[in-house]
Amino acid sequence: MQKFALGFVTAVVVVVLAGYICIRFGLMDSRADIPVSTFEQKLAMPSLDASVDRRAPEVKNPVESNDVNLIAGMKIYQANCSNCHGDIGHPRGMFADALYPRAPQFMEDAPDMPESQNFYIIQHGIRMSGMPAWKQSLSEQQMWQVTAFLNHMDKLPPHVSTAWKTEAGASQINDSSHDGSKMEMKDMKNMDMPIH
Ligand code: HEC
Repeated sequence: MQKFALGFVTAVVVVVLAGYICIRFGLMDSRADIPVSTFEQKLAMPSLDASVDRRAPEVKNPVESNDVNLIAGMKIYQANCSNCHGDIGHPRGMFADALYPRAPQFMEDAPDMPESQNFYIIQHGIRMSGMPAWKQSLSEQQMWQVTAFLNHMDKLPPHVSTAWKTEAGASQINDSSHDGSKMEMKDMKNMDMPIH
């Protein structure tokens, strides 16, 4: 029994040490544009889901999903989120393949988690990924509005959908390629938009 315990502890120490050496001495690839390994993909998503499931308070969205709030949410989304998550005019965002882990493309796979969990993710961001914590720059109400928009993204009322097409079109002028011109337009637009 004692031998087994010693063997077990040694194995754990070796694994931890090997992991530390890999990370500390640069054996891990630091590039964001390499393919995401199947192992990480299989592990990361359920781990994120389980963590959010455990922590996100079960609260109801205080914002009603009417046209006014959905349009407000759409504008917040278009200005702050579409580059990474895609929009109605550009189903694959400019940074679709530029982050590790990849940003989910919501036009291809709508976010179907409960609103309370999407709100929690938007509020706090996701550690070790490109997903920022938005509570630094958006008000509670704006975060709930963009949450309502996300949860209705694949079933938007026609009026909101039309407004989104116009907004997405307007923010993509000169976007014939990803040569930086789009970035410039969006940056300018973000500056114009009062987010508080
Ligand atoms: C710089 C890129 C970037 C921006 C900007 C960004 N996100 Fe994200 N987002 C990510 C990445 C990357 C992930 C996936 C992280 C992971 O898988 O661990 C993510 C994940 C999410 C998720 C979880 C999706 C799921 O299926 O688990 C939600 C919800 C989300 N983002 C909403 C938003 C909203 C709303 C905005 C704008 C207010 C936004 N994001 C802006 C990169 C971004």
